[in-house]
Amino acid sequence: MSTQASAADAADRLSPNLDPWALARELSARHLIGGKLVPAVSGRTFEVRYPATLEKVGEAAYGEAADVAAAVDAAVMAQKAWARTPARERGRLMAECGRILEAHKEELARLMALETGKALRTESRVEAGVLADAFVFFGGLASELKGETVPFNPDMMTMTVREPIGVVGAIIPWNVPMMLMAYKIAPALTAGNAVVVKSAEEAPFAVLRVCQLMNQVLPAGLFNILSGYGPECGQPLVAHPKVGKISFTGSVETGRLIYKAAAEKLIPVTLELGGKSPMVVMDDADLDKAVAGAVSGMRFTRQGQSCTAASRIYVQAGLHDRFVEALKAKVDALVMGDPLDEKSDIGTIVSLQQFDRVNGYIDRGRAEGGRAHECSALPATGEKGGSEKLKEGYFVRPVIFTGLPKDSRLIREEIFGPVTCVVKFETFEEALEQANDSDYGLAATIWTRDLKTGLDGARRLEAGFVQVNQNLVVMPNLSYGGIKQSGLGKEATLEAMLEHFTHKKTIIVNLG
Ligand code: NAI
Ligand code: MG
Repeated sequence: MSTQASAADAADRLSPNLDPWALARELSARHLIGGKLVPAVSGRTFEVRYPATLEKVGEAAYGEAADVAAAVDAAVMAQKAWARTPARERGRLMAECGRILEAHKEELARLMALETGKALRTESRVEAGVLADAFVFFGGLASELKGETVPFNPDMMTMTVREPIGVVGAIIPWNVPMMLMAYKIAPALTAGNAVVVKSAEEAPFAVLRVCQLMNQVLPAGLFNILSGYGPECGQPLVAHPKVGKISFTGSVETGRLIYKAAAEKLIPVTLELGGKSPMVVMDDADLDKAVAGAVSGMRFTRQGQSCTAASRIYVQAGLHDRFVEALKAKVDALVMGDPLDEKSDIGTIVSLQQFDRVNGYIDRGRAEGGRAHECSALPATGEKGGSEKLKEGYFVRPVIFTGLPKDSRLIREEIFGPVTCVVKFETFEEALEQANDSDYGLAATIWTRDLKTGLDGARRLEAGFVQVNQNLVVMPNLSYGGIKQSGLGKEATLEAMLEHFTHKKTIIVNLG
């Protein structure tokens, strides 16, 4: 097998297609299996629409058990040679994939904005811009797939080696699909596995394009991707006897189903299941920084569709009213509009299902007596030079709730929309108690000028990822993953690659 891409191959490579409508049509009705774009075995498809106008973007291949079987077969074949490829050569190819994705980031961003409604400038471009780094980072760790020697017996050479699992199944959601996929497949492939990804039904095209681009340099069959619905396509992937590991990001409900199905086969799973991430703002916090942190932490520009969204904001009484006013002003200044328009800060909710769900929570909050501060404005549709086409789009104005009852479902449940709940507190202890009174434990932040309070809070907040006075997102080398109902296992680090995508074998050589 030759994994060296020659200069001639490089000249044949796909060039960026900056028209996302044309690109989606080109990728329509296809999975990518064994290095080739292929239709579903049944020939069936399902529609994908632009959530801003409901215009048809394309058709995605309707994956079912037969498609899963074909993809897993291709993966099994390719994995054998891949596992025997020197680790640093695998790493080199990952870095090469990173370079290709970097060169295509603008087309990927546009395609992402088109299928998900995530604003191009503030969100889709940011997501497309981080892909290369994930592949370069994990590719660079290829030679860290080391074992140990064990002082067992001087007459016996005893050691451990790290071996790939074989075929890894990855099931991904629609909110940041390219990035979440990268954090699964980059370590899985570097470690010598083959992967079969099932994309989210709302967002099949950008990740398919990523797969197509990477398949220009990867051996055929190593990275396969299927589109389809959870029960018809995701479930058979989890159940397939030759899939040795599932890495999943999505809802708690689906995570539980996957965990149960994996238990039947006794295979390991990694589950990243979202959260209800608290932000604790003390009276002595820097107000401007905390407010900016709330806007970015809540991912208002992504319509709050983030697993780490700062969706519960506990603010100490002395700062509370000023914080709410300042937050409202800042969110008001965000421009909602056509996701593909450079002027838009905020695009749409991804689908009708999510649109109804988010609006349901907003109605409930009002009915519970909460005060809904609606921010920004719906895009102009027709009058004032706006586009009539946006009338049907899944736009939701960002909402800051105050005055909700403590047991409100809006404070307990993941809304996954542009809705945050601000709660007033008196003492630090009270804030910690409320922040920790949650089924989730993904991320948390605390804002204070006092180092001791910040550190104390960081230690005592129950979450996998805690930050003081800042709100960074997931990035390579920072262990990412939740506790409690937020999931099982960590992502984004060397340890995550070793723990989740390899197994340790003990070898003893008798020298006697
Ligand atoms: P979901 O968890 O149902 O979907 C995520 C992925 O799982 C998709 O690819 C889907 O096709 C697949 N899936 C669904 N059922 C499956 C099954 N039985 N077997 C295998 N795969 C299956 O999430 P959904 O319905 O898109 O969103 C519902 C809620 O989930 C959101 O409102 C949000 O609260 C949460 N969510 C959390 C995410 C996170 O980043 N942790 C991402 C997406 C959703
Ligand atoms: Mg679902």
